Amino acid sequence: MSKRQTFYITTPIYYVNDLPHIGHAYTTLAADVLARYHRLLGEDVLFLTGTDEHGQKVEQAAKSRKITPKAHADELVGRFQALWRALDISNDDFIRTTEDRHKETVTAVLNQLWEKDQIYADIYTGWYCTPDERFWTEKEIVDGLCPDCRRPVEALSERNYFFKMGQYQAQLRQHILENKDFIQPQSRRNEVLGFLDQPLGDLCISRPKKRLAWGIPLPFDPDYVTYVWLDALVNYISAPGFSRDAEAFERWWPANVHLVGKDILTTHAVYWMSILMALLLPLPKKLFAHGWWTIDGEKMSKSRGNAVHPAETAQGYGVDAVRYFLLRQVAFGNDGDFSVAALENRINSDLANDLGNLLSRTLTMLERYSAGQTPQAISGDMPEDCALREAAEALFEKVDAHLEQLAFEKALLEIWQVIRLANQYIEKGAPWLLAKDFEKKERLQTVLFYTTEAIRIVSCLITPFMPEAAKEMNKQLGLLHESDERSLKERCTWGKFPAGLSVAKGKALFPRIQTRKKNANQQEKPAAQKAANPAPIKALVGIDDFAKLDLRVGIVRSAEKIEKAKKLLLLQVDIGSEKRQVVAGIATRYAPEDLIGKEVVLIANLQPATIMGIESQGMLLAAGGKKVLALATFEEKVPAGTTIR
Ligand code: MSP
Repeated sequence: MSKRQTFYITTPIYYVNDLPHIGHAYTTLAADVLARYHRLLGEDVLFLTGTDEHGQKVEQAAKSRKITPKAHADELVGRFQALWRALDISNDDFIRTTEDRHKETVTAVLNQLWEKDQIYADIYTGWYCTPDERFWTEKEIVDGLCPDCRRPVEALSERNYFFKMGQYQAQLRQHILENKDFIQPQSRRNEVLGFLDQPLGDLCISRPKKRLAWGIPLPFDPDYVTYVWLDALVNYISAPGFSRDAEAFERWWPANVHLVGKDILTTHAVYWMSILMALLLPLPKKLFAHGWWTIDGEKMSKSRGNAVHPAETAQGYGVDAVRYFLLRQVAFGNDGDFSVAALENRINSDLANDLGNLLSRTLTMLERYSAGQTPQAISGDMPEDCALREAAEALFEKVDAHLEQLAFEKALLEIWQVIRLANQYIEKGAPWLLAKDFEKKERLQTVLFYTTEAIRIVSCLITPFMPEAAKEMNKQLGLLHESDERSLKERCTWGKFPAGLSVAKGKALFPRIQTRKKNANQQEKPAAQKAANPAPIKALVGIDDFAKLDLRVGIVRSAEKIEKAKKLLLLQVDIGSEKRQVVAGIATRYAPEDLIGKEVVLIANLQPATIMGIESQGMLLAAGGKKVLALATFEEKVPAGTTIR
C-alpha cells in the first residue's frame, strides 16, 4: 500500500489570557484553508493550534483572582476553543502548554540540550520588560521603554541558564541562503538575513523560580523554570510526539508550514531554528510571517477598545463572508486595514453579486428549461464555450500554484475570474431567448451545461475558503449526496457533472447587506466620520504640472526614532537605483519595526529639506491631514523604483 503524503501545519500558540481578536483569527483561518485544501488533495493532514499558558501574566492574573494559574488558564482556554468552532476551524489537535504531554517533551528537550553541553549558567544583566516577559539589550530599548509594547523596562541582573544559540548563526544563515522559500515572504527572509549579519548572542532560557514559579521546571536545576519562548516553541514538536511517540513524530516532522505573524518572526526564524539544529532535527520546510491587521487605520488593542471580535462579526455577516474577506482583502504577507465598509463592500460585490447571483440565475434556468435537473454533458464549439471551458479547466493548476506560495488572495482572484466569465457567458448565451426557439434547444442545453459545470468546479475550489457556502451550493445543485472519494484535482476536470440530478433552489447564498451595520465592536470610528466630511478640493492643476512629480515605489529598509522628535522617524527607502534618507512625520501612527519591508510611495524629485538637522531626500504619501491615518501602499508586490502614474 502506498503511503499517503502528509501535511503538517501550525499556528502560533496564543497567549491564553489575550482576548482573541481578528488578528488571531487571521492566522488560524489561513492555516485552516491550507489544511482543508491539502485534505482535499488526498493528503493526511495534521493541523495544530493551541495556547501558551505559562508565564508572569497568567501567574499575576490568577493571583489577583485568588485562584491557581492552572484554574485560571482552564477558564480562559475555552474562549479560543469556542472561537475556532464558531469560525469553522478544522484543527486536528489543540495543544496547551500545561498539558503533561507537552511538559514531558519540554523536559526531554532540556535534558538533551544539557547533555549535549548546549546549555550553561551565567549572570545575565539586561533590561527587562515585565509585561512581555522579555529581556532587551541597551541598544534595543527606546527612551527607557520596551521597543515592542512601549512600556517602561527595568534593569535586572540575575543568574540564569543560556542556550548556545550563537553557535548556529553560520549554519542557519547558510540554510536560509540555500532554501529560497524557507522563510517567506521574501521581505521577511531579507529581514532575518539582515538580523543574522549582526553577531548572534546566546539565548537566556530560564527564570529563577523565586521570581516566576508558573513554568516548567528545569530538570537539571529545580530552582529555575523554563523561559516562555523555549517552552512555547517546543509545542510544534511536542504535539506530534517528540520524545514520546517516535513513530508519530517520524510521520509528521518536519512541519510543512509554520504560520506566524510578523511580530514573532525572529523568535521563530532564529531561536526556534537554532534549537532544532541543536537537537539535530530537520528544520520545517517553510516559515511564513504574515502582515498585521489594523482597525480603521489604528493598531488593535485592549486600551483603545477597538479590537474586532471575530465571532460577533461572523454572527452578523456570516462565517464564510468573514473568512473570504480576511483572505481576499489583503495580499498575504502585507499589512491590512479592517473596516466594516470594506467588508460590506466585498460581501455585496464579490459574494452577493458575482457568486450568489451566478448560482441563483443558473438554478432558475435549470428549473425553467431543464425540468429542474442537471443537464447532459454536451460539447460546445462557440468561442465563448471554449473560453469558459479553458478557464475552468485551468483553474485548479492556478489555484494550486498560488496556494503553494500562500497567495490566498491570488487564488481567490483566479476563482472570481471564472465566476465573472460564467456570468458574462450567460449574458451572451441568453438562454431565455434560446428557450423561445425550438431549433435552438441543443444550444440551450450546451449553455446550461457549460454554466453548471463551471459552477461545480468553482464550488470545489472555494471549499477550503468557504466550506459552508460550498456545501450549500452543492446542496442546491443536487450534488450533496454524491459521495466523492476522488482527489480535488480529478474533481476539477471538466465534464464531470452527473446528468439528471434534481436541483433545488434554496436560500440566497450571500444576501446583500442593505445598510451599514453597527454593533458593539463596530461603531463608526471618528476616522471614518472625518472621511465623510473631507477637506475642500484644491484649485485645478494641469496634467503637465502633475507630470512634473516623479513618484516611485520605495521599500523601507530601515526605520528608527529621531531623538527629541516624537512625531518623526528616520527611514532608509530603497528606490531601486539608490537609497533615500527620508524624515517622515509618521511616528505617532507607525512603530519603526512595522515599517521594515513596507512598499511606499515616494516623491523622488522633491527638493531636499533639512528637518531637525537631518536632510530628508523625498516625501512619502499618506492618508490623513496633520494626523497620519495610513501610508499609501500597494495591493500587489511591485519592484522598488517602479514609476507611479
Ligand atoms: N504566545 C506567543 C506565540 C508563541 S508561538 C510558539 C504569542 N501569542 S499571541 O497571542 O500574542 O499571538 C501572536 C500571533 O497572533 C501573531 O503572531 C499573529 O499570528 C496573531 N496576531 C495577533 N494580532 C494580530 C494582528 N493585529 N494582525 C495579524 N495577526 C495578529 O505571540
